[in-house]
Amino acid sequence: MKINVLKNYKELSSTVADIVETQIKKHPLSKLCLPTGSTPLGMYDELVNKKLDWKSVITFNLDVYLMNITRPQSYQSYMKKNLFDRTNIYPDHSHFPFRPFSAFEDKIDGTNQTDFMNTTMGIDLCILGIGSNGHIAFNEPGSSFKSRTRLVNLDEQTIIDNARFFDSVDDVPTQAITMGLGTIMDSKKIVLMVNGLKKKSILNQAILGIITEDIPASILQKHKNVEVYYCD
Ligand code: F6R
Repeated sequence: MKINVLKNYKELSSTVADIVETQIKKHPLSKLCLPTGSTPLGMYDELVNKKLDWKSVITFNLDVYLMNITRPQSYQSYMKKNLFDRTNIYPDHSHFPFRPFSAFEDKIDGTNQTDFMNTTMGIDLCILGIGSNGHIAFNEPGSSFKSRTRLVNLDEQTIIDNARFFDSVDDVPTQAITMGLGTIMDSKKIVLMVNGLKKKSILNQAILGIITEDIPASILQKHKNVEVYYCD
């Protein structure tokens, strides 16, 4: 696992944006897996400023809240606002976890597809953030390392952490659909973005500590192609 400590949030954002740019330029038909939350906001701004050609890129979001998707807090609204409406990506090429979950997984794998665009098998590049409880996507502590896309109950800590995006903590959805840890681990390359001292301790536990389902991100130690980017 390559661990890179960057000077500040600007450098974190531009470094990861450069990785996405390289991937898209090298392979315009790339399948990307994308996060929401505070951490990637600067990276999306950097990416938009690069004016890349997104017309052949296919994206999959890691997770969605179970909520009305037209509300501004939905991850569908977040992606439209921060990336999709600011690029030339085709609406049909951006996917959020959907039911039946096996069909969503098939779309990632590229199996059972008649879509000629769907030429690569699996996710080429997966960008992740980490929750203060060690979650990746919405795989909360205790999630099986073999888990696939599914409906989950959000951890109390996640609800508290994400209350900042809502009017009150009671307004935060309690359920979500998330890609599983097994789904994420099938990605060819994984980049973990971590911003801020408050995440340092959980990051250290995840990347240097024991590999345990109590810290879902610790599964990344088993992946052959993971890069971690951290700034204080
Ligand atoms: C969101 C996601 C989550 C976040 C994590 C960190 O799509 O997958 O795992 O990456 O909760 O969120 P921030 O960046 O807001 O601290």
